[in-house]
Amino acid sequence: MKLVRTIEEVRAACRAARSRGGRLGLVPTMGALHEGHLSLVRAARAKSDVVAASIFVNPTQFGPSEDFAKYPRSLENDCALLEQEGVELVFAPSVEEMYSKGTVTWVLVDGLSDRLCGRSRPEHFRGVTTVVSKLFHIVQPDLAFFGQKDAAQVAIIRRMVRDLNMPVAIEVCPIVRESDGLALSSRNAYLNPEGRKSALVLYRSLTRVQALFDGGEHDSATLVAAASREFASEAGVRLDYFEIVDPDTLEPAPSITQRVLAAVAAFVGKTRLIDNILLGG
Ligand code: PAJ
Repeated sequence: MKLVRTIEEVRAACRAARSRGGRLGLVPTMGALHEGHLSLVRAARAKSDVVAASIFVNPTQFGPSEDFAKYPRSLENDCALLEQEGVELVFAPSVEEMYSKGTVTWVLVDGLSDRLCGRSRPEHFRGVTTVVSKLFHIVQPDLAFFGQKDAAQVAIIRRMVRDLNMPVAIEVCPIVRESDGLALSSRNAYLNPEGRKSALVLYRSLTRVQALFDGGEHDSATLVAAASREFASEAGVRLDYFEIVDPDTLEPAPSITQRVLAAVAAFVGKTRLIDNILLGG
């Protein structure tokens, strides 16, 4: 496995890989890798001939009071995991390498970027779409792999690729969870044992909604109210949003007549966690 730090090097390595023929798969990450990330790598291995992963904690997707500085960084361990999974190329640039001084150009998926997490994290999705399109331009993958865990991110990246005619197939992989249901996240490392227990309320609210839906309740307001009640009994957890939306446009779905996304975000202490399920369809 080759670890490269510069755009020039990764371009050369990708060019060489492409010239050998076959499909190049990219797994973009911010590192602190866990089984969720590795599931994307395995999907990439299954569908591509050469797999590249990027590790870059992208400053432009963090708000000024968010956790950019303390976000977990473990490059050596990450590289060992990626090597075990058969990744050929790891691109781990510095901030200066990715954003030359005086960068003023952004990729913005208008409208969608203000929904769900975009409402409480203004500019977050603008940072995501900008860095992902830069990675696509640099690596020029045939396929790119993302997790359903970040469902709004998936909808926004899909729309960006469609609107800007980017020649890359977006592959989406299911959410990987702990045995008790907690969705794996690099941010779970921030939780103390008490927070770890409280964090289960996210999954509990989703399973409650799933059960009510399976029992015939298709009114979104009723389902959201039931989900919110789960949070009322959990001191130390602040619900940011629980919404039922169209999975492609992220617009509210008042009643469930087709496939919808039930998405939740909450602060467990200071740690912001997200989770979701698809219902219907
Ligand atoms: P990061 O949070 O590191 O996640 C990288 C990829 O792993 C994302 O596509 C995410 O959805 C997926 N992932 C995370 N947890 C998962 C889980 N439990 N199950 C399945 N997939 C999971 O998402 C980002 O980084 C960044 O926004 C990025 C796309 C790299 C742009 O900076």
